[in-house]
Amino acid sequence: MFPHKVGSAWEVHTPAKLNLYLDVLGSRADGFHELETLLVPVRICDQLRWEDSPNPTATPFLRVRDLLEIGSTSTVPLATGADNLVCRATERLAQAAGMEPRGTFELTKRIPVQAGLGGGSSNAAAALLLANAAWGIGYSRRRLAELAAEVGSDVPFFLNCGAAVCRGRGEIVEAVSALPRMHFVVVKPPASLSTTEVFAKWEQHSGAAAGETDETVERRSVAGGLGTLVELLRSGALAQAGRRMVNRLESAAAAMSPWIDRLRHELAGQSFCGQLMTGSGSACFGLARSATQARRVARLLSGKDLGSVFATSSC
Ligand code: C5P
Repeated sequence: MFPHKVGSAWEVHTPAKLNLYLDVLGSRADGFHELETLLVPVRICDQLRWEDSPNPTATPFLRVRDLLEIGSTSTVPLATGADNLVCRATERLAQAAGMEPRGTFELTKRIPVQAGLGGGSSNAAAALLLANAAWGIGYSRRRLAELAAEVGSDVPFFLNCGAAVCRGRGEIVEAVSALPRMHFVVVKPPASLSTTEVFAKWEQHSGAAAGETDETVERRSVAGGLGTLVELLRSGALAQAGRRMVNRLESAAAAMSPWIDRLRHELAGQSFCGQLMTGSGSACFGLARSATQARRVARLLSGKDLGSVFATSSC
């Protein structure tokens, strides 16, 4: 993610992500869950723009343009005030740097919310990068990553914004190099899911709730298929890789919304390499064999009343 100057303003594209693998290794004392996940940024993008305002009190700090009409179609309204992660991130940065937030941010939304696509986290990372540049703070990526982890578990991933394996609660980011360009069809159904509620449902269903120990958690992690999945993707063996994609939050999400099984079923009928829910849902995606297949299937699924359908590719 690279902020660039446009006249006296600053702009940055803020991409979505897909989880091609997500294992929940256990619950933690701080209320979060220990994860092992493969994240890939994709070209469904919001845009964030910053402009200085001559009279700071005359303009709102954050303006949101909602291109998907998220506000009218989502079960949850898009936060446009102090709760928006752009405000939380920039206020945290200003506080750390000992200054007042300055200027106006304009966020143009295309990424569906509460979809497992990481839109809010991506916006927060973009806001940190933009404000760091526009306000002349000059913090290193490392310092920004510390602030990012305070704002949200997925925010550090978006600072670098290449494919990565993320661990801990998501904030420990290890870059994964040399993955080929991948093509996807992403479907966001009309229903949205709250991350907190999906993890709570996972607790009810999971081994952790049944008394999984640290030792079993560690064994499962070591024996897990993430390394093999990464190698298969690197070598371009997408059909084999697709069969190894897994999301341990999927059954919890499917217990909360009938859309998960419906989308998995629709995607499974399209001869993709594999299909999966992303993050805590509710969006699901298919890993396509080619860009042509992704475009063709996206056109087909757009006519089926499944919600918002995107053909996209990894960044
Ligand atoms: O970190 P973030 O604000 O994105 O997390 C939102 C919610 O998702 C948390 O409050 C928590 O309920 C859940 N979560 C979790 N374990 C993680 C990440 C998120 O339980 N590793």
